[in-house]
Amino acid sequence: MTKGWTKSDWRAKPRIQMPDYPDQAALAAAETQLAKYPPLVFAGEARRLKDKLALAAQGKAFLLQGGDCAESFAEFSADNIRDTFRVMLQMAVVLTFAAKVPVIKVGRMAGQFAKPRSAPTEVINGVELPSYKGDIINGFDPTPAARMPDPQRMLQAYTQAAASLNLLRAFSTGGFADIHRVHAWTLGFAEHDKAERYRELSNRISDALDFMNAAGVTSTTAPELASVDFYTSHEALLLEYEEALCRIDSITGQPVAGSGHMIWIGDRTRQPDGAHVEFCRGVLNPIGLKCGPSTTAEDLKVLMAKLNPENEPGRLTLIARFGAGKVGDHLPRLIKTVQEEGASVVWSCDPMHGNTIKSSSGYKTRPFDSVLREVREFFAIHQAEGTVPAGVHFEMTGRDVTECTGGLRAVKDEDLSDRYHTACDPRLNASQALELAFLVAEELTRQRDDARRVAL
Ligand code: PEP
Ligand code: CO
Repeated sequence: MTKGWTKSDWRAKPRIQMPDYPDQAALAAAETQLAKYPPLVFAGEARRLKDKLALAAQGKAFLLQGGDCAESFAEFSADNIRDTFRVMLQMAVVLTFAAKVPVIKVGRMAGQFAKPRSAPTEVINGVELPSYKGDIINGFDPTPAARMPDPQRMLQAYTQAAASLNLLRAFSTGGFADIHRVHAWTLGFAEHDKAERYRELSNRISDALDFMNAAGVTSTTAPELASVDFYTSHEALLLEYEEALCRIDSITGQPVAGSGHMIWIGDRTRQPDGAHVEFCRGVLNPIGLKCGPSTTAEDLKVLMAKLNPENEPGRLTLIARFGAGKVGDHLPRLIKTVQEEGASVVWSCDPMHGNTIKSSSGYKTRPFDSVLREVREFFAIHQAEGTVPAGVHFEMTGRDVTECTGGLRAVKDEDLSDRYHTACDPRLNASQALELAFLVAEELTRQRDDARRVAL
């Protein structure tokens, strides 16, 4: 697949959305340093994730991908990581119970630092400044000095990613993720007065766990109940960083991105002949490809051929992000292209990036109802086409932020300023994220019941 490919070939291709570092010597020094550091993930883990995604493509597993829009140096703390990890576990329990298949948990964590932007500059308080591109590139403060790209930031991002991943690995296997610890919270959630329809599902989850306990199936007798597999992912935007962490898998001899288990190509950087596609096509990791309203059938064909020439199941996840009300205009035509090519893909739904609006209070926000509507449209279209809705992709946090409007504990426009902490796009808070998991669970249950009815 990667015959003749080298990790620096992308340098000969058109590069967009990446910084022009003013100090080339400092950049080279940072890259040399990073290239000596250990990879953050190992090839075997990336291959295992790919195998699981291959099951998702067939409806035998379900992908839950979520986390910050942009991780930041300032917000880095054990509590933040723990809280997001915990909400993802809770969501996964709800989804597993509904879908009756394993849920593959992939964080937008431990490396999600670099951001594409719609414009290279922005005006803040009347001053035009280079746009903030994520903490791995420049600083958030609205000053010319902070906005200067600084290659040393790559080393700090690496260190933060390594520490985050270390904690995630500890949480995954050290007892924190024991299934018996997570069900209580979903019960608390269902006690909300409007949450009548979640109560039943929560009670059933709780009953199932009690039954297993009574039958002697505990974390001691079944250690798999006490730990989870958790994977990391990020947009592979800053290719100097990705190249420096690229390694050779000692088992297959193939190159692997050592920066995270799964990497994805953003909607703005998916040019078939661009630098980002060139880098991603050569590494063995599972690859995500954002598909927006401007994705043409022609481009998708070329991209699938470049990114997955052997049509390896689990290799390519197409992350649909069209916006509520627009899924019907685009998803069916892209599903058709995939079918015409006979391609194996994992269809995932990102209901965040097509639903960003400016609120009346001036904050960038996303109405919960639009997010939910896009998810429903995604499921309905797959149902109509007879294809598999294999996953969801959310920007979310375990903290009680006020960044997206709506949800059961309704966040209103005027509440946005209360706890608006994101370094980039607005995230679902813990309660909204779990509410969405229940709603996705309903879709999955309906789909399963329909499939059963057809089979009878
Ligand atoms: C993102 O996932 O944060 C993002 C920028 O998405 P997209 O490329 O789909 O706009
Ligand atoms: Co985003």
